[in-house]
Amino acid sequence: MAKQWSPSSWQQFPIKQQPAYPSPQALESVLTQLKRNPPLVFAGEARSLQTKLADVAQGKAFLLQGGDCAESFAEFNANNIRDTFKVMLQMAIVLTFGGACPIVKVGRMAGQFAKPRSADMESQGDISLPSYRGDIINAIEFSEDARIPDPHRLLKAYNQAAATLNLLRAFAQGGLADLHQVHRWNLGFVKNSALKERYQHLAERIDETLSFMAACGITAQTSSAIRETDFYTSHEALLLNYEEALTRQDSITGEWYDCSAHMLWIGDRTRQPEGAHIEFLRGVKNPIGVKAGPTLKPEELIQLIDKLNPENELGRITVIVRMGAGKVADGLPALIRKVQQEGRHVVWSCDPMHGNTIKACSGFKTRAFDQILQEVREFFQVHHAEGSYAGGVHFEMTGQNVTECIGGAQAITEEGLGDRYHTHCDPRLNADQSLELAFLIAETLKSCRQQAD
Ligand code: PEP
Ligand code: CO
Repeated sequence: MAKQWSPSSWQQFPIKQQPAYPSPQALESVLTQLKRNPPLVFAGEARSLQTKLADVAQGKAFLLQGGDCAESFAEFNANNIRDTFKVMLQMAIVLTFGGACPIVKVGRMAGQFAKPRSADMESQGDISLPSYRGDIINAIEFSEDARIPDPHRLLKAYNQAAATLNLLRAFAQGGLADLHQVHRWNLGFVKNSALKERYQHLAERIDETLSFMAACGITAQTSSAIRETDFYTSHEALLLNYEEALTRQDSITGEWYDCSAHMLWIGDRTRQPEGAHIEFLRGVKNPIGVKAGPTLKPEELIQLIDKLNPENELGRITVIVRMGAGKVADGLPALIRKVQQEGRHVVWSCDPMHGNTIKACSGFKTRAFDQILQEVREFFQVHHAEGSYAGGVHFEMTGQNVTECIGGAQAITEEGLGDRYHTHCDPRLNADQSLELAFLIAETLKSCRQQAD
């Protein structure tokens, strides 16, 4: 029988990847303030996301999760939020057509601030300082002061998340999500793409479909499904002080929800079955993601599912597989088979970013577009072979025209990485690279559909 859970019970468990705040009193006073602040999302919204993810788990919908590796205070402005939102909708329309199913849209936005790091210290020359852990914890500048964890950053992150969410809600319901508008942006992309011929056919088919629907009287004026969309938020539940402070008891069901985002995920570095992160997340009712890297054993995955989803609820668990191109066939089949044997319901999603990070000669961290696409393809192939459903994708991406990942139709080179390399952590796909991937994945979805027919 599991021990009693409370929003603070995680504090009794071993924990990784946390900052050491110099003043516990200063932290306490910030947390008291945060606990008084309004929740960012509501329990009912998290429940509606779980219902949609339940459809994904049953092969009736597809998950698109994406956004920054790390949101930052410096890059916070309305245009950046709008552009990432726009690209996600553009991708969604293409995927909807390819998969002939609804796309559940979840941003890595409005709270994706805390970062796990592979080393506690960073060295430059002969100076060694604590690593940067995301803007919610310390600052990226390489100086002693900047790297001291500052609890006031939690409030700043909360305020930024609130403002971001406010804008996302307005965009989703206020006209920016109109399908005809989103499709016009896609036509602009196709027209200017070096791979125009390849994408044109699909874009034209979408065009015809929208015209046909309009002719039948289904337009933005007559149908909210054309005019509006549902957009959810998510982030890695890493900094548990922040997550605990935003955890509230739902007045309708009496259940606990982490109201910092609709969906939370557990990183590959903090998923110890007996660790604090699992303890915290087992008690909140939000949909939960679990990152699955190459070291995750099938028995361990079942152990995690047992803790996080003892009732085997549909839509509660999304396994976000991040093996690396060339490694999916080694690691994934055993995970799928075990989950099938044990009869567990999960959404399988593919993060083709975190297993494919390399260091360019220039020193920039980067990822190759081809490797990213390759991992997605391997993911689909393995699912096809195992008779399970490849339910989603998880990208680090931005609506900005950055040069952080190499390749794609724009053919960003290693030498070109320095032109517009703005990420605060891992390299992101830019707007064109993201859309290109959506077109290529839509082709795969379509052929999976044809094989299944
Ligand atoms: C991330 O999603 O930014 C991340 C750190 O992923 P992972 O835990 O899979 O390495
Ligand atoms: Co990342």
